[in-house]
Amino acid sequence: MDVTLDVSGHLTALQVMRDAPVIPVIVLTDVRQAVLLARALVAGGIRMLEVTLRTPQALACIEAIAREVPEAVAGAGTVRSAADAQACAMAGARFAVSPGYTHAVGQACRDAGLPLLPGVATGSEIMMAQEDGLSALKFFPALQAGGPAMLKAWSGPFGDVRFCPTGGVTMANAAEFLALSNVVCVGGSWLTPAEALARGDWAQVTALAQQACQLIRSNA
Ligand code: 3PG
Repeated sequence: MDVTLDVSGHLTALQVMRDAPVIPVIVLTDVRQAVLLARALVAGGIRMLEVTLRTPQALACIEAIAREVPEAVAGAGTVRSAADAQACAMAGARFAVSPGYTHAVGQACRDAGLPLLPGVATGSEIMMAQEDGLSALKFFPALQAGGPAMLKAWSGPFGDVRFCPTGGVTMANAAEFLALSNVVCVGGSWLTPAEALARGDWAQVTALAQQACQLIRSNA
């Protein structure tokens, strides 16, 4: 994590992306587990946490992390509607990540004061996000939608855009993405394996976070 960054105030999407080489994509069903997991990730050097709105407990988990783990920054993932944006902001989320982009989601995040990393997979989607002033974007699903070659192709026409590729990124291929000039960080679920969560193996989560923090970035 970038120790010079004060995370107590408002953050920009670019600051969220720059803090560590990986933003963990997290699926949680248990509030107690949420707190322990957040502490384990912070202990490994990762504090920008994307808790996906994919379970009925997700908002309560965001709320618990925001309340009990102040050294973490709880964000919400899978934000697909204005209502999602409002709900996660109410729960204490400090940033939002979406799998795609609509102007309505962009507007709702602006209204709620939430920095947004919107998902894009085409040039038109990048242009739509840029029309609304967004230039720190998630490339999703990164591997399936063209991988590093797609990002290289975009670096010409969209040279002012910075990406967080997510989807199919692992410890094995993260370095290839992070070497690109338009990539600031990657996102992925590999830091929080379901089996480790089920076992309460927080040491494994911390070790995976530490390993992820060793990844070299050419453009942070
Ligand atoms: C997701 O939305 O699930 C993320 O893109 C994570 O994808 P991954 O499991 O391939 O890392």
